[in-house]
Amino acid sequence: MADPPATDRRVGTAVLVAVAWPYASGSRHLGHLAGAYLPADIFARHQRLVGNRVLMVSGSDVHGTPITVRADAEGVAPADIVDRYHAEFVADWQRLGISWDLYTSTGTENHAAVTQDLFLRLLANGHIDRRSSDQYFDAAAERFLPDRYIEGTCPHCGYVEARGDQCEDCGRTLDPEELVDPRSKISGSMPELRSTEHFYLRLSDFTEELGKWLDSREGWRRHVLNFSKGWVDEGLKDRAITRDLDWGIELPVDDLGPGKRIYVWFEAVIGYLSAAKEWAQIQGDPEAWRDWWEDPEARAVYFIGKDNIPFHTIIWPGMLLGYGGLNLPDDVPANQYVTFKGGKASASRGVGLTIGEGLGLFEADSMRYALAAALPEQSDTDLSVEEIGRRINEELVATWGNLVNRVLSMVHKNCGVVPSPEGRTDGDLAVLESVDAALVRSTEQVERVELRAALRTGMDAAAEVNAYLNTTEPWKLVKSDAERARVVLGTALAAVAGVRVALSPYLPFSTAALDDVLGPVKSWERLEPVVGAPVPKPIPLFAKVDLEALLSGDDREEEGVDTE
Ligand code: MF3
Ligand code: ZN
Repeated sequence: MADPPATDRRVGTAVLVAVAWPYASGSRHLGHLAGAYLPADIFARHQRLVGNRVLMVSGSDVHGTPITVRADAEGVAPADIVDRYHAEFVADWQRLGISWDLYTSTGTENHAAVTQDLFLRLLANGHIDRRSSDQYFDAAAERFLPDRYIEGTCPHCGYVEARGDQCEDCGRTLDPEELVDPRSKISGSMPELRSTEHFYLRLSDFTEELGKWLDSREGWRRHVLNFSKGWVDEGLKDRAITRDLDWGIELPVDDLGPGKRIYVWFEAVIGYLSAAKEWAQIQGDPEAWRDWWEDPEARAVYFIGKDNIPFHTIIWPGMLLGYGGLNLPDDVPANQYVTFKGGKASASRGVGLTIGEGLGLFEADSMRYALAAALPEQSDTDLSVEEIGRRINEELVATWGNLVNRVLSMVHKNCGVVPSPEGRTDGDLAVLESVDAALVRSTEQVERVELRAALRTGMDAAAEVNAYLNTTEPWKLVKSDAERARVVLGTALAAVAGVRVALSPYLPFSTAALDDVLGPVKSWERLEPVVGAPVPKPIPLFAKVDLEALLSGDDREEEGVDTE
């Protein structure tokens, strides 16, 4: 294969796997998992195995009105909300096997310092300025109403519960002043406009540069590029990057007086950089982040959901251009939405399963499989508990789980150890060649972030090994021709070892469960199992899902689904 083998040599390309920072304001659901975290993990695991130097970072987004609105509603401090959900996310990632190099939060001193440095550099470079504007003010509550403290009708689609920062229905980002019939979330009253001062990012400075940059992007998903170019073509608006809040990162200048903080969307994206710096400090090599951010050979791939697209394809690149000397995204393979029986999965509206609920119903690898097989890469995909269970039973267990179990059982019973590869026929070699070809093809697919297709490639290879067994019928050969049976079983075991590599980014736990027999997966290639190594009686890799029991659970879920 063209790629260097993964060894300790640090020869590969530096690949930053940058993953959306989840708001620590509520449990994340399976839509978030399929939207960003799972695809990022699959991509990162594959990149490591082909020998690239991966830095996969994210963290909890702890600021902004999603947090404070929740804290107000519960009558607790924002820090209590943040602590609760950050701990939950960390536990979720562990149970799911998400292989972070660093999962941190935007609540660190390091992140505040990196944010303030960016702010000051953009200010010094003339890309930030101070302006007066009219903002909504709740006279009863005596406070300004940023972002989610205000709701009203979306001027684009007419959705009546649009928030001051974004319409959940059509996905457009909004400014509070754009809302029709605005109302305060605090008092319910009609707010009044009052003049106040804020800092603005002069995004319009970068209209031409960003337009050219987007035009030069190759291989991006069409919906990401179309959406982003549409934004630039409409003309980039300068954006307020401070808010009237007391929860958030402090300004490094005191021109605005008290009660103002840096806007969450200005600082959260900076997390990708600050996390790389934090990671480098933890390594004891504080300059190490530069390999991913300053080397023009490095790649940066951002895994996000489609509601985050403009922040990653326009605003963050604009900030990076204004700062200078740092790498822009190479790809932003944003996913579409996962819907649950038609409704968009949404943590804030309580639609769909939370990650914790999903893990209560399914084994981690099984759930990873079902979500990966249905990733919303090109269009929204619909999921249900039933569909997840069906995919696990009819695809994962039927094709891969049974193959592994069948081959290991027969090798155990008839050979006891890994048989020698001697005496393989052309037919035997052909099945191994098809597995090798699958590894090459799936690498090409993962490189294009076609992770559903790459999973299919691995599963098709498993199906070919099943077909090989059905043709060679080793269970009959063991009685008629024991020597030939051993060759066939050894070939099947070698083929299983190769398919296991192709599936390993998707199924980390069941991959590791075979380490004792087949050795750990260390590179993206099919390695012959060690001849003579003992093959014990196998334990099934995956449990079959009890669909009957799940269906009653699904009905219960469905009552909570608001599809209107
Ligand atoms: N917290 C945001 C959300 O959940 C995502 C932030 S991505 C970041 O939608 F890059 F800005 F951090
Ligand atoms: Zn809308």
